[in-house]
Amino acid sequence: MKVETTTVLAHATYGGDYRCLELEAPGIAPEVRPGQFVHIRLPAPADAILRRPFSVFRADGDRLQILYKAVGRGTAAMRHLQPGDGLSILGPLGNGFPAAAADALPVLVAGGYGMAALYLQARTLPRRGIAFFGGAKAGDILCVPEFEALGWEVRATTQDGSRGERGLVTDALDAWLSGGGRDLRPEFFACGPNGMLRAVGGRAEAGGWTAWLSMDRHMGCGVGACLTCVQKIRDPDAPGGWSWVRICREGPVMECRTVVWEGDE
Ligand SMILES: Cc1cc2nc3c(=O)[nH]c(=O)nc-3n(C[C@H](O)[C@H](O)[C@H](O)COP(=O)(O)OP(=O)(O)OC[C@H]3O[C@@H](n4cnc5c(N)ncnc54)[C@H](O)[C@@H]3O)c2cc1C
Ligand code: FES
Repeated sequence: MKVETTTVLAHATYGGDYRCLELEAPGIAPEVRPGQFVHIRLPAPADAILRRPFSVFRADGDRLQILYKAVGRGTAAMRHLQPGDGLSILGPLGNGFPAAAADALPVLVAGGYGMAALYLQARTLPRRGIAFFGGAKAGDILCVPEFEALGWEVRATTQDGSRGERGLVTDALDAWLSGGGRDLRPEFFACGPNGMLRAVGGRAEAGGWTAWLSMDRHMGCGVGACLTCVQKIRDPDAPGGWSWVRICREGPVMECRTVVWEGDE
């Protein structure tokens, strides 16, 4: 893990509400594994104290890219970055996704920036499988040509029906499972809103399959010191049968059986 002052190489609209930020980061980019993230110090003075976490979309040579959507003050300030600007980033951080079991069919499930967070995993897994992407509208479905170019079958779902099937991403997943997918020994890799992750994990547990979930948490330090990002996990050795992990250090990727969801305590 390193802190590096990177240089903005390119910054452009990507699709829907998302933008792609490309950085020259020779100390960090070559070290990135699928599912890891970087912690970025955003440019606005008012937001300069806390960094913000972003999954690495692509890492090629000395360059890395992130896809982001402006949701608050920090990401709104990010929109003004220009090629040549300097940006301090910390990374690569987090555990990242593991390899799939040799006899499993990898199944990716993503919502929002999860499509970017899964791209390096899609590029690295030796066996290509199927990817389920969900969003509220067509503009929320990202990276489909990139995944298809890697040999993945992509099924999109939108809540308003403007792209792919109308419904939730888990509706498409359920239809695939009951149409023969459950016989293909799926192993899930998922990133998106917590409700979606919980639903994917529930299906995996019910079917006896494995699901690796990249958890989204508000973060402070990003390096395990502040405990802003803690998550309850099942821990048979701990008193009460559970303990805490830090999503920035022991995560963000957790196997679904370890996660204790809110309300399940
Ligand atoms: C491991 C990890 C990887 C991420 N990767 C990406 C990515 O690749 N692309 C991307 O666009 N975003 C990603 N995010 C989310 C991103 O970090 C937040 O959108 C960003 O921190 C918001 O900063 P802000 O200053 O603009 O918003 P703030 O002003 O801090 O918050 C604005 C609103 O967003 C909510 N919010 C802030 N952070 C989060 C969060 N982590 N989860 C849910 N809601 C949040 C706040 O509650 C508030 O409602 C990632 C988060 C994590 C934990
Ligand atoms: S963000 Fe500080 S411990 Fe995880």
